[in-house]
Amino acid sequence: MPTVMSIFGTRPEAIKMAPIVGALKRSHALDSVVTVTGQHREMLDQVNELFDVVPDYDLNILEQRQSLSGIMTRTMDGLEKLFTASKPDAVIVQGDTTTSTAAAIAAFYHGIPIVHVEAGLRSGNLLSPFPEEANRKLTSQLASLHLAPTSESRSNLVAEGVSSSAIVVTGNTVIDALLDSVGKQASFSDPRLEAVAESGRRILLVTTHRRENQGNAMQGVGRALARIADRERDLVIVLPAHKNPVVREALLPALSGKANVLVTEPLGYGEFTRLLSIAHIVLTDSGGVQEEAPSLGKPVLVMRENTERPEAVEAGTVKLIGTDENTIVEEVNILLHDEDHFARMANAVNPYGDGKAAERSIAAIAHLLNVGDRVADFEPAPYLRR
Ligand code: UD1
Ligand code: UDP
Repeated sequence: MPTVMSIFGTRPEAIKMAPIVGALKRSHALDSVVTVTGQHREMLDQVNELFDVVPDYDLNILEQRQSLSGIMTRTMDGLEKLFTASKPDAVIVQGDTTTSTAAAIAAFYHGIPIVHVEAGLRSGNLLSPFPEEANRKLTSQLASLHLAPTSESRSNLVAEGVSSSAIVVTGNTVIDALLDSVGKQASFSDPRLEAVAESGRRILLVTTHRRENQGNAMQGVGRALARIADRERDLVIVLPAHKNPVVREALLPALSGKANVLVTEPLGYGEFTRLLSIAHIVLTDSGGVQEEAPSLGKPVLVMRENTERPEAVEAGTVKLIGTDENTIVEEVNILLHDEDHFARMANAVNPYGDGKAAERSIAAIAHLLNVGDRVADFEPAPYLRR
């Protein structure tokens, strides 16, 4: 039986790979090996524990305030040793992190076929998101099988010259993880969160971490949140803070002492998706949250100038607002007080998947390795077809 090695290192990769690792474990056609780089530590382990994923290998590369080159070289060095000792028949990498691109390059150097999950997302700007747009384009150059989440991402790949026969549209595995998790209604381990949930007060859920937003822009986000908190006393702003000290230093000083701002540690995925399901508005620069919130019918304001996930913007549930302090205050204000505007954005749309992306992915990988038939593409919801 062919052996497939899943390689990932950060929280979003762990969430999006968990359904695939689960499906591989159940597969009778493929053997599964899991390697984590440890680009993230606490935030990675938290997800793996929830989904019962026990890595076979852990490169444990995290350093505080790590550099991009450091992540790249430590990952490649660790994988070089692993692949020299034993070569899997294929590797699976996910998305656009430096872990995923480093793993793709290391596998390529060893002649191991690469399967790219969440292939074909493009913002069209090499510098934004940085370095993710470059990472995913590099991985596309090396992959043998491109698992595109939507027909739009498939088209991006075809436009760059990738052969149609090497692409399968699967839907995004984040929707598999979300559907699994949200139904379970996890309880909050932080009693302050349970109290907010019970109060029924409107919640503005905020997450931010992007490298290109760090520094001045993120300080501006902090000031915008402080102004919103002062003006909207009935609103609760909940901010599960990323572990990155650079993010915390920029964002949190403006928020200290605000009674209606609740800053928490990174939440377990079950707790986060429950919070998402009871939030009124979502303000974020996250990729994964842009995919999850629309399927729960939550209006999403995205603190970026562009997105590689245009589907929910086209459907009207996501709006790009950038990071200008006044614009953030204004856009949140409109959503809070203009009921028609809120209603237009609060539509549950599901362009990103139907919960069967992992199943399709495993079938496509089996086909690549000559132990299965080609699988049919995921069809997006009719209203999104153009
Ligand atoms: C990384 C990815 C980004 C992804 C994000 C998800 C790259 C270049 N960036 O960015 O694409 O959107 O993860 O969150 O691959 N830290 C900890 N513990 C943790 C996690 C992080 O202490 O569990 C701290 C460390 O000081 C670390 C810093 O956060 O040096 C930044 O982590 P890093 O993975 O380099 O960047 P992210 O901004 O998390
Ligand atoms: N998430 C989580 N706990 C949190 C914040 C986010 O489990 O406290 C989940 C969220 O549901 C999404 C993913 O983490 O699936 C997004 O991760 P992140 O924003 O770090 O990375 P990105 O998606 O931007 O690459």
